[in-house]
Amino acid sequence: MAGTTYLVTGGAGFIGTNFVKKLRRDEPDARIVVLDALTYCGNLSSLSDELADGAVEFVKGDIADRELVAELLERVRPDYIINFAAETHVDRSLDDSRPFVKTNVEGTLNLLDCALRLRRAEEVAGQTPSLRRFIQISTDEVYGQLEADIESGRPFDDATVELLGRRGLCYGSESFSETTPLRPSSPYSASKTSADLLALSFYHSFGLPVVVTRCSNNYGPYQYPEKLIPLIINNILERKPLPVYGRGLNVRDWIHADDHAAGVLAAAHHGVPGEVYNFGGYNERRNIDIVRSLISIMKDELADNTGVDESLITYVGDRPGHDMRYAIDARKSMRELGWRPEVDFDEGLRATVRWYLDHQGWLRDIVSGDYRNYYSKMYSQR
Ligand code: NAD
Ligand code: DAU
Repeated sequence: MAGTTYLVTGGAGFIGTNFVKKLRRDEPDARIVVLDALTYCGNLSSLSDELADGAVEFVKGDIADRELVAELLERVRPDYIINFAAETHVDRSLDDSRPFVKTNVEGTLNLLDCALRLRRAEEVAGQTPSLRRFIQISTDEVYGQLEADIESGRPFDDATVELLGRRGLCYGSESFSETTPLRPSSPYSASKTSADLLALSFYHSFGLPVVVTRCSNNYGPYQYPEKLIPLIINNILERKPLPVYGRGLNVRDWIHADDHAAGVLAAAHHGVPGEVYNFGGYNERRNIDIVRSLISIMKDELADNTGVDESLITYVGDRPGHDMRYAIDARKSMRELGWRPEVDFDEGLRATVRWYLDHQGWLRDIVSGDYRNYYSKMYSQR
């Protein structure tokens, strides 16, 4: 869409980076402004190509900074605000939840409030409001947890096979739909739930064109190596123990970040204000099975695979309040947004491993400083 302006907050993080790259591919004429505070997990080198060719304007700043956000919106007048910026790691929220409230709740409120003020100023000036959609990026964790039959996956029912055009396994009969009650368990998910509710309240109270999207666990390139998949890849590379929480039987529904990015764009263009859309990959896996798959892929892919085997698996103390199972019912998004998850999980996981092997400099630069200090502290407490 020529001349369309996107303000992407948190664009230097994992999903934001993948989103910006997809946006560049799909809408080469779009103007993209990234607002990111570059916290421990923001990494501008992920966007070095886009910054070098001038495709992206970068603004370093906090979404909770009232003056900065108000001035930026006034100058940029985005058609779309896509709010990825957040504190995202559940374990960190269990250590100290305050940054989660500051960014996820107060930061989101500030963005909403500044967007509303700009809209009102435009209306007073007799101008057409510039903002078409405010997309609040949320998570399946707001729904809490599902029961799991952890011993054995059951095959998809016929309707799901027909919907997806493939077979697969799930670990329980229920999944989260957009009308599932919100029951967040961790400070992270509670802060994301608060942000969702604030965002929806700005639609209901003031008519701000807010759309909320809730996605399951993402994987793919550029993910910070505190999250399960890149952490395990990095530890295998370093032949370090692979920490598996509890018995490793918790289930997550994995989706490639490209599929999530496609869903967010579909929600921006076709989402109805005030509505919520779920995205999920229909790829339920137990954590231990993810770890075993990564060991097997890395054994294949590494020229020197000495010491890469299941003896690296180390069961550690469980995450407090660890949600048992997530599974998304994404039929509304498929029906109403014309979206569907496309990336085959086994292919996507192998491609992700290859990406990390080809970008070991990116990984090495990250595995330092805050990250290392944080984890040595965390594991010594368990
Ligand atoms: P990430 O942790 O990799 O990146 C977050 C980004 O936000 C970083 O670049 C960071 O610098 C930036 N940021 C943090 N606080 C900020 C602030 N106050 N102001 C401006 N920028 C700030 O996160 P991610 O995994 O890419 O997640 C992005 C969004 O998607 C989050 O809202 C998260 O809740 C949501 N989400 C993530 C997943 C997942 O599996 N990773 C799944 C569903 C939803
Ligand atoms: O479901 C969406 C959510 O997915 C997002 O909202 C979050 O931002 C994102 O971090 C992710 O949350 P999880 O807690 O599910 O992701 P994480 O990678 O931390 O953990 C995945 C599973 O693996 C979880 O059951 C905990 C387990 N785990 C994790 C780590 C880091 C381990 O067993 N060992 C580990 O070292």
